[in-house]
Amino acid sequence: MERIVLVTGGAGFIGSHLCEALLNQGAQVVSLDNFSDHYDPAMKSRNIAGLVNRAGFYLYKGDIRDAQLLNKIMQNHMITDLVHLAALAGVRKSISDPLEYVDVDIKGTVNLLEFAVKYKVSRFIFASSSSVYGAAPPPFSERTTSADRPISPYAAAKRAGELFCRTYHELYKIPVACLRFFTVYGPRQRPDMAIHLFTRLIDEGLEVPVFGTGASSRDFTYISDIIDGITKTLSIPLTYNSFNLGSSQVTTLTELIKIISSELGKKARISYHPIQPGDVPETAADLTHSYRILGYQPRVSLTDGIRSFIDWYQKQKQTE
Ligand SMILES: NC(=O)c1ccc[n+]([C@@H]2O[C@H](COP(=O)([O-])OP(=O)(O)OC[C@H]3O[C@@H](n4cnc5c(N)ncnc54)[C@H](O)[C@@H]3O)[C@@H](O)[C@H]2O)c1
Repeated sequence: MERIVLVTGGAGFIGSHLCEALLNQGAQVVSLDNFSDHYDPAMKSRNIAGLVNRAGFYLYKGDIRDAQLLNKIMQNHMITDLVHLAALAGVRKSISDPLEYVDVDIKGTVNLLEFAVKYKVSRFIFASSSSVYGAAPPPFSERTTSADRPISPYAAAKRAGELFCRTYHELYKIPVACLRFFTVYGPRQRPDMAIHLFTRLIDEGLEVPVFGTGASSRDFTYISDIIDGITKTLSIPLTYNSFNLGSSQVTTLTELIKIISSELGKKARISYHPIQPGDVPETAADLTHSYRILGYQPRVSLTDGIRSFIDWYQKQKQTE
């Protein structure tokens, strides 16, 4: 059967890479994105500029909470699989505007689950986050680490999305996978995220704000590894599954700044500030389960990944 995948958030960072990969694999791709202005919508248009004229790519500009539009999409395309990436992402903004996150990230997800059930979509893949583990001791395992103590509204909304996925699986037996992404980076990364933000600040000779001592650490995952994890999830039979998609390589903020600075060939000017509420001290993925079930194996080292990111950054700076 021909695969027709609805990708919500298809013009975003991860979404645009996924749409491209799925088209390359011969699927039809229907992208739904409202080009929200949480960061420059022009960046999203650039993300998908190479896709809009490709055969098998359909773009809908609209909101995941718009029931009429979803009906129209479902009637126009016999959607076989749904990858739900659209969200308000990011921890800090969620603390200043929690209700908007509840509305988009929870209500939007439930709305899509309703449509997936109504139109008998055969797979629902939900973009969750390592933030659901809160400040639990790393490494985080889907099997043994509790995800019931989120420390930001964003993390709570992602966890709520997972629980709704579980509920719809129990009620309607819809096959579901919740993918817990660990800090994703690479070309087209959101401008508010550390690697993109630090690169710009160091490049422009501006101060890099570090919250805490620089010892906090993250499991940074290169975009092609994440896309590989998503496409692998699309290729296996699902019941209700949660998978960590990370790199399992942990890097401190101080080391990260050193790598970016050395790749750019520019010195970083750092200013230190108190730790921000909502930030977890460390993330680290246990990949045993995703390797065993999906065959997921991240391949890109942080140094190689940052090199590719900076290469993209320099090129797009010239075209802006
Ligand atoms: N990037 C990461 O490190 C990371 C880590 C963990 C989880 N995630 C999750 O992965 C997904 C994609 O993240 P990203 O970094 O590509 O973010 P992104 O902001 O680049 O992409 C999200 C897209 O969703 C769209 N969108 C937002 N609200 C919408 C709405 N109401 N209706 C339709 N479209 C809407 C935005 O316009 C955007 O293009 C998100 O669900 C995010 O929470 C990302």
